Amino acid sequence: MNNLITLNKISKSFITSKKINVLKKISFKFSLGNMYSIVGPSGSGKSTLLNILSLIDKPSSGFISFNGNNVNFLNSSTNDRIRAEKIGIVYQQNNLLPDFTALENIYLAKLSLINNKKKAVEAAKNIIKKMGLIDRINHYPSELSGGETQRVAIARALINKPQIILADEPTGSLDQTTAKEVFNVLYKLKNSNRIIIYATHNRYFANKADCKLEMVDGNIKTINARIK
Ligand SMILES: Nc1ncnc2c1ncn2[C@@H]1O[C@H](COP(=O)(O)OP(=O)(O)OP(=O)(O)O)[C@@H](O)[C@H]1O
Ligand SMILES: [Mg+2]
Repeated sequence: MNNLITLNKISKSFITSKKINVLKKISFKFSLGNMYSIVGPSGSGKSTLLNILSLIDKPSSGFISFNGNNVNFLNSSTNDRIRAEKIGIVYQQNNLLPDFTALENIYLAKLSLINNKKKAVEAAKNIIKKMGLIDRINHYPSELSGGETQRVAIARALINKPQIILADEPTGSLDQTTAKEVFNVLYKLKNSNRIIIYATHNRYFANKADCKLEMVDGNIKTINARIK
């Protein structure tokens, strides 16, 4: 099996007025070609885990490796580069920069890698067309519906052809019909050279994954694994 992401005894605690141990020595291997859902009650640590996987936050202890290379959480410029090249991230809301149009939101993500505006705009237009939003490219986020916003956010997450897609409740703020449309867009991104990991409170979407992970007492319990 082709493992791309390995979690080795990942723990995460937050210290405010008292210490909360959110993730407790999680070890797991995510393999290419599969879709993983993360479920669990509010506060169980789904976003915390996704933030560590996206290298936005660092674990209190433990290691992560991508393709066998351990991530050094002290080296933020390397990690920024890994994130830009390999990881596409979609959140529940506040996904887009409010002062930039849909097209700008998408092409800026490409520009950060290739430094060629013409090519970045071309790539953004291609992808926005695939999302069925070509006539919305000059809209600001406040001028888009919830479903359109999420499709733009997915387009932005995809523009650098990431091997890893992380989505934190990508359909959480949408009505049922729009949620299904957006989920289908995400579902179609599955391919043999990619890992998709998403947190959701929606049981129907959670069950569409190849492997469902449930957060239980700071650890993950695997249910419903269909991984070969
Ligand atoms: N920066 C922080 N400082 C202190 N505590 C935090 C911080 N971030 C998260 N927590 C706490 O960690 C726990 C896990 O939070 P997390 O956001 O990962 O939950 P979640 O499973 O994503 O919940 P939801 O379903 O509501 O999104 C919560 O109890 C939360 O209050
Ligand atoms: Mg969350």
